[in-house]
Amino acid sequence: MKRDRTAMRGDVACEEAPDVPRHVAIIMDGNGRWAAKRGLPRLEGHRRGVEALRRTVRAAIELDIRFLTIYSFSSENWRRPAQEIGDLFGLLRIFVRRDLADLHARSVRVLFIGSREGLPPDIAGLLAEAENLTRDNKGLTLVVAFNYGARQEILAAARAVAEAALRRRIEPGTIDEKAFEAFLETADIPDPDLLIRTSGEQRLSNFLLWQAAYAELVFMPVLWPDFDRAALEGALLEFKRRDRRFGGLAAPAPSLKERA
Ligand code: FPP
Repeated sequence: MKRDRTAMRGDVACEEAPDVPRHVAIIMDGNGRWAAKRGLPRLEGHRRGVEALRRTVRAAIELDIRFLTIYSFSSENWRRPAQEIGDLFGLLRIFVRRDLADLHARSVRVLFIGSREGLPPDIAGLLAEAENLTRDNKGLTLVVAFNYGARQEILAAARAVAEAALRRRIEPGTIDEKAFEAFLETADIPDPDLLIRTSGEQRLSNFLLWQAAYAELVFMPVLWPDFDRAALEGALLEFKRRDRRFGGLAAPAPSLKERA
């Protein structure tokens, strides 16, 4: 399994709560409401959302988070008006063109998950360029979920597993979690420890459904354009208070002797 911070307490596997989660995933929600509250077009909310993303990447680096996954365009976002879809693609273009050099200078490795099918060709080219330029960087890994849906990802993995079995490259009886995960787009990325959703909504919306099985979920009322380092630190504090049991038992209360 990909969890390497598991400590054994008695015969129960428990997670030693680290100060900082290794992998934080964020559903950046509330751009539209932020704009509506101010009588501004939704695009302005998304623009301010990109600024919040820049702040968050910098804060994640400073706080020594190793992986940051952001949900920037879901498979279901195609249901939005064409104008807004075009605006979101435009913002991705600007983000990659303007920020790539800076991300590279900060040793950030950029990865994209999600389907490249149906994307304008120049966008697909930009994603490949960002990945190629930063592939050897050793700092924060920024995973941008773009045109991503977890059910679609799991289905694609299931199809690939079935293909491999048909071609006798894999034995169905040997397909365990580890073997299956190798077919997911996140194969080399550890599972998220903490998943944050802003704007007060409390659902996963088809984001990392497999990977977030044991993530701590933190729902925050802040609208995404207002998110900043202090908000991230608030989520980290909440994470630290959680007792991660992975289906095991809580750590035994300290004995009187230990407390003395
Ligand atoms: C949710 O807000 C946000 C999105 C659908 C897109 C997230 C995009 C950004 C933060 C900016 C773009 C970033 C990149 C890298 C392209 P919403 O529009 O659903 O807000 P609402 O629920 O208040 O309407």
